[in-house]
Amino acid sequence: MSDQVQITPLDYSADRPVAENPVKIMDLSIRDGHQSLFATRGRTEDMIPVAEMMDEVGFWAIETWGGATFDTMHRFLNEDPWERLRTLKRYIKKTPFSMLLRAQNLVGYRNYADDLALAFVDRAAENGMDIFRTFDALNDYRNFETVVSQIKKCGKHFQGCICYTLTEPRLGGEVYNLAYYVDRAKSLESMGADSVCIKDMAGLLAPYDAYPLIKALKEAVEIPIHLHSHFTSGMSPMTHLKAIEAGVDIIDTCMTPYAYRTSHAAVEPLVMALLGTNRDTGFDIKKLAAINEVLEKEVMPKYKHLLDDSKVSIIDINVLLHQTPGGMLSNLVNQLREMDALDKIGEVYKELPRVRKDLGQIPLVTPTSQIVGVQTVNNVLHDTPDERYKMITGQVKDLCYGLYGKTAVPINAEVQKKALKDYPRGEEPITCRPAEVLEPELEKAKAEIGDLAVDLDDLILYAQFPVTGKKFLEWKYGKTEAPDSVKPITLEDVRKRDELIKKAIAGKLVESKGDEPAKSASLRTFNVFVDNEYFNVEVDPTGDVQVVTPVPAAAPAAPAPAAPAPQAVKEEPAAAADTDGTLLLAPMPGMIVNYLKNEGDTVKSGDAVVVLEAMKMENSLTAPADGVVKCVKFASGDSVAKGAVLCVIG
Ligand code: CO
Repeated sequence: MSDQVQITPLDYSADRPVAENPVKIMDLSIRDGHQSLFATRGRTEDMIPVAEMMDEVGFWAIETWGGATFDTMHRFLNEDPWERLRTLKRYIKKTPFSMLLRAQNLVGYRNYADDLALAFVDRAAENGMDIFRTFDALNDYRNFETVVSQIKKCGKHFQGCICYTLTEPRLGGEVYNLAYYVDRAKSLESMGADSVCIKDMAGLLAPYDAYPLIKALKEAVEIPIHLHSHFTSGMSPMTHLKAIEAGVDIIDTCMTPYAYRTSHAAVEPLVMALLGTNRDTGFDIKKLAAINEVLEKEVMPKYKHLLDDSKVSIIDINVLLHQTPGGMLSNLVNQLREMDALDKIGEVYKELPRVRKDLGQIPLVTPTSQIVGVQTVNNVLHDTPDERYKMITGQVKDLCYGLYGKTAVPINAEVQKKALKDYPRGEEPITCRPAEVLEPELEKAKAEIGDLAVDLDDLILYAQFPVTGKKFLEWKYGKTEAPDSVKPITLEDVRKRDELIKKAIAGKLVESKGDEPAKSASLRTFNVFVDNEYFNVEVDPTGDVQVVTPVPAAAPAAPAPAAPAPQAVKEEPAAAADTDGTLLLAPMPGMIVNYLKNEGDTVKSGDAVVVLEAMKMENSLTAPADGVVKCVKFASGDSVAKGAVLCVIG
């Protein structure tokens, strides 16, 4: 009985007495919320209308930055991520800011060198960050050492995460059991963590596992315990309650418009559920309602088209079936669809746990979920009965080398040996902290980008995102004009788009014939979905007449967060003489990273010839025969279709 939440019904007014031990709440709407539901496309200008109101709620913190925001902002929104921090700080003056930091991966996708990591944390703190929620995909806390030293030096809050993952349907088994999580929490506390966060990115934490888990953590460490549990599987509201009964200190939620599906449970039902108890949040539900009203009317109309409404159900049952993050599953489906191999999904589900086990039972979170996912698909598509791991991605090689850190259990020795054959850093894996083998990189980045990076913030952005970062800095300093696709839309644009959709549904979209006015510079393009048909509609607001040219096209795949903008795929030029020899074909659509062999080079069957990037993973493609490399068709940066002839060996 003592565990249970005490109900002392009295006063439910906004100024009711403070509860004995209020549950603290962190709001995630303007980071994880829009990252989960709206492909991280939230703009700063759409956060400002509610910023001051949110500062009045009494949140423990508001998550404002990190994760994919840094990437998406400069790449797709033409916004300086550093500026968002400074802008929001002018409106949110009382509530601390929190960011999601991928430890030595910072806000990018690989381990960066120590000099860059130190500079990043220092500048984030200087620009207004208060709480650094830090995680490592392998739960290898050696990857925390550099950033934590700087977080502490800046006098900021270091929150250490434990990525929650399972190998069984419920907590337990040989690897990820209660003892594992307790050990990780103690290790964080001894590193100086100011709080510990259970980061349940796939919504796998079941209510009756949350209870013993939080109990054990509360007993093992002194510092506050924070729960981050995505809604994806549908369990999180129940999990929250059991965690609260077990004494959890802080819970993550979103404002209703940013809640549920792959995001988080909403704050409002939790506030009401705890009202009048000893864990009452003390929040004024009317203030929350007022924020929701502004969001619904002024903000969400601009984003609702980004919501993946391909399914009615807001719960992903597959997550319960496969204990795998929903985002990872949808990536796998997209990847198979791109390769015309959707019928192999059953095999992929079977292969996935095998690959994960071979690779050391790593947690599945960015970037490891992608690494395991892509390798699984490669195995299903390319392996033969007598050879497994025929095509190993560059990232799997890096993992086998130890570049991501230490895996929960050792990597399959055979797979590791195969992956490290001819690996440029060496065939013997490292056991030290990964960043120790990385050369400092800030000076090198400075030499590359030159004066285009005006200050350290620009340079840090460029160093993490060389291609898109450079493009952004050119927009920022007026060297090139930003394309329309990165410009904000207004409520007026939304109204016009909605009218078009209405007309399309009513069958009133008529193709114009002749006498079309010239398209002006303010022409905007919209994707309009009507039932299963997709229309590409151009709207020119300055003309008297709206030119509507419905172009039925194949419906594009569901938007993946931070996916690179689609590029024109180069058709391979047809030439009869080219086929004189053995062809090396692209096994999947992707982008050429570089050729490792040049025209005229002699190669042996199995030598790596070209590196192809697909689904953010690098794959080295090998010579299908002995001979001389002829007819290199593409250059670095070219996009190629599946089956394109990359070179001929003859
Ligand atoms: Co999250």
